[in-house]
Amino acid sequence: MKKVGIVGWRGMVGSVLMERMITENDFKRFTPLFFTTSQAGQQAPDVGIKTPPLVDAYDIDQLLDMDIILSCQGGSYTEEIRPKLAAKNWDGYWIDAASTLRMDDKSIIVLDPVNRKVIDNALSDGIKNYIGGNCTVSLMLMALGGLFENNLIEWLTSMTYQAASGAGAKNMEELVAQMQTIGNMASPVLENPASAILDLDKNVIETMRSNDFPVQNWAVPLAASLIPWIDRAMDNGQTREEWKGFVETNKIIGRSDNPIPIDGQCVRIGSMRCHSQAFTIKLKKNVPLNEIQAMLAENNDWVKVVPNSKEDSIKDLTPAAVTGTLTVPVGRIRKMNLGDDYLTAFSVGDQLLWGAAEPLRRILNIIL
Ligand code: HSE
Repeated sequence: MKKVGIVGWRGMVGSVLMERMITENDFKRFTPLFFTTSQAGQQAPDVGIKTPPLVDAYDIDQLLDMDIILSCQGGSYTEEIRPKLAAKNWDGYWIDAASTLRMDDKSIIVLDPVNRKVIDNALSDGIKNYIGGNCTVSLMLMALGGLFENNLIEWLTSMTYQAASGAGAKNMEELVAQMQTIGNMASPVLENPASAILDLDKNVIETMRSNDFPVQNWAVPLAASLIPWIDRAMDNGQTREEWKGFVETNKIIGRSDNPIPIDGQCVRIGSMRCHSQAFTIKLKKNVPLNEIQAMLAENNDWVKVVPNSKEDSIKDLTPAAVTGTLTVPVGRIRKMNLGDDYLTAFSVGDQLLWGAAEPLRRILNIIL
């Protein structure tokens, strides 16, 4: 059996990945060795089979002995370790959740329900780096795969509503701490039947603006507010998250030399781990709505077309409904007042599953 080194399994994406791999019995298909940056020699996690103690993640000789390395350790680890392995002519496969190598010519961004052909060609061409994509991009492609596959998109915009988990575990904790602080401070007003709504409103905003409000991670309130900026600035006014929407999507579908224009605004909201997106899509031609819905539904096993009714939308098309599932609902599908070839849709997806862990465990199984 192939030897697979696993690094960064304890973090948020790593933990979700471990859960999924245990559920799907992946560990029966290879010999795992767990690496650690801080606890070498200690017991490896319980994954249902016997495994040796943890190995130092900076021990190059041990890494070189692996057939495949799967890392959720983050970009700095990739930056330091991948070149060292290449310098020693390591011939194994590197699977990675970090963005460091995504746009590299010698890397493939993996999302096999959408780009299995690109992946298969890369494997036969001897490409060794397989990298998980940006979560928003992967979730958009899972939702709209049918339109991309049928080459129907002239351009599109994605306006996002991104969850706290995209910024990390500490940010999720701080979001809940912000909610708790607001709730605690507001409770005397809420509990007093005589209080007026404007008293409640004043109480909440005063709490959010107070110097004691917890903002060490977000810098500003997110609970009861939003943050219209994700990641760092690019030179053209976009954020890096918005830039990824264009470059990564086109790389995933193998169209970097003839790219589909994609742009939008990426916004952080107070959901925990589901990213949502509202799309405006300029179609190449006027396709009837029922054909569009059929194409979307047929594209992969996880997308689910939600009827454009209030009942279905508020029940099935929300972070509250989708969190912890692999389903990617797409709804609010209709032609726009702008013209018959303008389509709008709304989609939700768990950014820790299809947005992070799932493409990694699937590429591991494909390589195995
Ligand atoms: N960059 C994403 C976000 C998460 O901040 O939501 C990782 O793809």
